Amino acid sequence: MSDLNGFAGRHYTAGDFTRKPLSYLLEYQRILADLRDRDARILELGVSSGASLLVWKDYLPHGIIVGLDIDAMPQKIAGQDRIHFIRASQDDTAALDQAAAIAGGSFDLIVDDASHLGYLTKRSFLYLFPKLLKPGGTYAIEDFCTGFLPEYPDGSQWVEPPAFDTASGTRRFESHQFGMVGVVKQLIDHMARELITGQSSYLPIEKMTIRTNLALIEKSTLPAGPPPVRRPGDTDVPGQHHPDGDISALGADIRSLDRRLADLETVDIHRLARNIADLEKVTERISRVVGWLRPWRKMLRGFRAAK
Ligand SMILES: C[S@@+](CC[C@H](N)C(=O)[O-])C[C@H]1O[C@@H](n2cnc3c(N)ncnc32)[C@H](O)[C@@H]1O
Repeated sequence: MSDLNGFAGRHYTAGDFTRKPLSYLLEYQRILADLRDRDARILELGVSSGASLLVWKDYLPHGIIVGLDIDAMPQKIAGQDRIHFIRASQDDTAALDQAAAIAGGSFDLIVDDASHLGYLTKRSFLYLFPKLLKPGGTYAIEDFCTGFLPEYPDGSQWVEPPAFDTASGTRRFESHQFGMVGVVKQLIDHMARELITGQSSYLPIEKMTIRTNLALIEKSTLPAGPPPVRRPGDTDVPGQHHPDGDISALGADIRSLDRRLADLETVDIHRLARNIADLEKVTERISRVVGWLRPWRKMLRGFRAAK
């Protein structure tokens, strides 16, 4: 068997929960089919057992594969030719540059299967997509549904989007924005940039394919726009990396914020709506009283003038 799923069967052990689902493998096969006889370059963030790196290697006989993981190199890939390993966090830009230097240039395919946290996923994407992905290449963000998992540090409970929010004149249609789900949805705004502002984006996206849990972002062959400008309220501190230890603290912060947000969304907003309705009633009563007082005030003014 020379398809990706066949190779996956060879390299993943039975029951390995990190095994890429068939739907992902079929997409990757479509993307890589034309690269089989070329020295294609693949970078995968998140290596785990190393099985996926071996799958890429088998499928691409001339391919160069770089894996990057915060954990140590797995035994499975030790000594493998055409497979390189870097131990680093996915947002370590020096390590990302090193990956391209080892591979001999920009990548045809970059797969992010690492932390599955929004802020790290976005940092890697912002750095790699414009700089180290070839024009026409594909960037895959795997498992973005972690944003729907409340047990995940930056995830939050999936909420059914309203079906009947179509009152005439409705302008805002709510949707989930937590974690990687929010990151993926932001990319849609980037795609609209040139159309709306006439200015090309620093993330030159040609096309996005969204499957359940997998986003495939194809890079345009047109030049990118200028780099983003920092704005007041930006939360990122330039040059500061979050060591792994910070992630759980961040998770606790996010969960508590999340609870407060959920409270706001349910209790407070309803209370606010009731308050606004009460206020409207009071205002109506005041204006009725003012209207009722007007002839009396007129009479009083006439009375004073006559004195
Ligand atoms: C789902 S596993 C990867 C599975 C692998 N890509 C495959 O398909 O066989 C996720 C990996 O990401 C790594 N990881 C977690 N946080 C990371 C980070 N900040 N930077 C790099 N790797 C990270 C973990 O150590 C783990 O090995």
